[in-house]
Amino acid sequence: MVSPRPAVQALPAYRPGRNPADLAREIGVDRAVKLASNEVAFPPLPAVVQALAAAAGETNRYPDNGAVVLTRALADRYGVDPARVVPGCGAVTLCQQLAQAYNDPGTSLAFAWRSFEMYPLLAQVAGARAVQVPLTPGRPGGPADTHDLEALAAAIDDTTRLVFVCNPNNPTGTAVRRAELERFLDAVPAGTLVVLDEAYREFVTDPDVPDGLEIMGGRPNVAVLRTFSKAWGLAGLRVGYLIAEDPAVADAVRRTNVPFSVSMLAQAAAVAALASEDEVRERCAAVVAERDRLTAALRERGLDVADSQANFVWLPVGEQAAPLAAALEARAVITRPFAGEGVRVTVGAPDEDDVFLAALDDVRSAAPVS
Ligand SMILES: Cc1ncc(COP(=O)(O)O)c(C=O)c1O
Repeated sequence: MVSPRPAVQALPAYRPGRNPADLAREIGVDRAVKLASNEVAFPPLPAVVQALAAAAGETNRYPDNGAVVLTRALADRYGVDPARVVPGCGAVTLCQQLAQAYNDPGTSLAFAWRSFEMYPLLAQVAGARAVQVPLTPGRPGGPADTHDLEALAAAIDDTTRLVFVCNPNNPTGTAVRRAELERFLDAVPAGTLVVLDEAYREFVTDPDVPDGLEIMGGRPNVAVLRTFSKAWGLAGLRVGYLIAEDPAVADAVRRTNVPFSVSMLAQAAAVAALASEDEVRERCAAVVAERDRLTAALRERGLDVADSQANFVWLPVGEQAAPLAAALEARAVITRPFAGEGVRVTVGAPDEDDVFLAALDDVRSAAPVS
């Protein structure tokens, strides 16, 4: 038998999330609600559907490997040189490209934990050491749900090539503020690249949470990662982008691109979505209003829910996470449990969230969840 690399053998087996149609069939209901993947509940933007229809007629050709039109559209939107912009096959692929570009075996990659579940896997595949810095309570007596940037800075050593700061943090929804992030960036050595993973940036409403693109100004060892999967509604098409302060960082990431991995449809859809930004902003405002309603409803039920700056809320229920998610699933609601820690619930459409709240009430009336 041909053996995979030990690092690959040690990776967790891929476990697909529940499909709502399958779950509904299995438990004999008309509809199951999926609040597990932080997608938006709105259908694709009309301009995106049109662009996809037009691009579909071209798909006998390869896509533009340089994604020139999309790169230029992003550069124009953010007022940066196109040399600093790298579109990718989803932000997650750009994470992989970053690790490939910067992490030789024996180096390290640092990040807070719990955070985006891909970060430790990137390190593992690269043969790098994952330095995981525990989250800290964001409010007195609260659960550990917030970046501890002082500890993260202290964990960086001369092997650390890459640091991910997920802001707002997935899955806890908390965000770091301007002053602490600036202090952190000041403390990071020039030879360590800090990637501000802003997959949920468009849902941020706290004015004190900095825009990564602004805060990286004048800091050549900082880059920002964003995605079209969440606010822009293109999760099914796989497209994200990196904007680096230093074009040399963008160049390194571009070199690790899997050729043609940003499909023609993804490129066309992203360009159309950028041209529909007003509509996207309206949708985000609706998500934020619903986030507030959901947060208030959970707090009324006595649950300790932090303010979220993303399109999901975090229930820090500890050991009850897996049983709670299973009980919700039995009631046709799919959430994302992190065993022993908490349950992440995507902000859905109001009717979906009502289904979730009713299921939660039903579960709790059977066995209280604190
Ligand atoms: C923090 C964070 N970064 C990156 C990604 C990846 O997004 P994409 O769909 O663009 O690969 C996600 C997706 O869930 C995420 O939560």
